[in-house]
Amino acid sequence: MSTIHVNGRAHKVQADSQTPLLRVLQNELLLKGPKYGCGLGQCGACTVHINGEAMRSCVMPVGAVRGEITTLEGLGTPEKPHPVQKAFIDAQAAQCGYCINGMVMTTVAFLKKTPKPNDDQIKAALDGNLCRCGTHMRILSAVRQAAGVTA
Ligand code: FES
Ligand code: FES
Repeated sequence: MSTIHVNGRAHKVQADSQTPLLRVLQNELLLKGPKYGCGLGQCGACTVHINGEAMRSCVMPVGAVRGEITTLEGLGTPEKPHPVQKAFIDAQAAQCGYCINGMVMTTVAFLKKTPKPNDDQIKAALDGNLCRCGTHMRILSAVRQAAGVTA
C-alpha cells in the first residue's frame, strides 16, 4: 500500500506499485477527469499535473509518483472554473469532449511557462494531444482567449 497526494488530499492506494496512475485515479479515487485513450503515452487524454508539470498518467506507475498530483477536478469547480476551463467553455471547444481533459491540463501547464504564446507555440504545445473530432480551431481559439492574445 502507498499514499498519493491528489488535489490537496492524501489517499491510501491499494493497487500494486506498478499499476498505472490513471487506473488508480479512475478505479480507486473515482475521478472522471483523466481519460483512457491509448494507454501508450501517445494521445494525452490521461494528462494530469505532477508538481505542476503535465504528465501522462497511463504510463506512470503509481509507485513512481513523487509529489502533488492535480487532476482536472483540482483546477476549478463548475461554479468557479479555472480561467482555462472557462475559456474552453466560452469557445465551445469540444465535440465529444474526450480529449478535452488533456487539452486543458496541457494548456494550464503550458501557459504557466509561456503566458503570451503565439499560434505556433500553442500548436507545438498541443501537438501531442490528439483530437479525433477535429475541434482544433476552437481549441486554438480557447487557448488564445485564456492567454489574452489574438491571432
Ligand atoms: Fe495516456 Fe493516451 S491514454 S497518452
Ligand atoms: Fe472529441 Fe476531441 S472533442 S476527441
